[in-house]
Amino acid sequence: MLTQIGGKPESDFSDPLGLLSDCHQRIRYFLGVLISVCEQARVNQLTVDQRTGLEKALWYFREAGPRHTADEEKSLFPLLRAKNIPRVLRALEKVDRLEADHRQAEVDHDDVDTIGRRWLSDGSLSKEDLRQMKVLLSNLMALYKRHLVVEEAEIFVLADGVLSDGEKDLVGREMAARRGILRR
Ligand SMILES: [Fe+2]
Ligand SMILES: [Fe+2]
Repeated sequence: MLTQIGGKPESDFSDPLGLLSDCHQRIRYFLGVLISVCEQARVNQLTVDQRTGLEKALWYFREAGPRHTADEEKSLFPLLRAKNIPRVLRALEKVDRLEADHRQAEVDHDDVDTIGRRWLSDGSLSKEDLRQMKVLLSNLMALYKRHLVVEEAEIFVLADGVLSDGEKDLVGREMAARRGILRR
């Protein structure tokens, strides 16, 4: 699902680094949706809009989020790790930390998904689940606030400078293949 957020046109697979940044906009957007549904939550039933927002956001983090992580961990980061260039070598510690963030985010998203699905099936949420959901989302918000900026302002900029056109094209092809899209 390529959801366009805001007025900026989406990048395409010929610009994989732009596409990764577009994914970040979707992460920010859908995290905001989850936070806003929690803030509006009442003991009574979810409204139609809240239910739709919750369903879409949970879907995004369950289905599309892992592909974005794989784009970085399986396609982009290995190409950086293969470079014997001082400024890349200096950045590899940050890349390791980004991967550790991914593991933490996966755990938190799993818990958000479990509680969110219970919310959808029951139509309401216990006070304890709501409290837990808010803690998880606040943790994710803090994690992504730092993580996404490091990737955008440092790692993607670095990759843009050191990867060859052929390597960028390879990242784009792998990203397309991950989504079942064939590129010539
Ligand atoms: Fe990441
Ligand atoms: Fe990312």
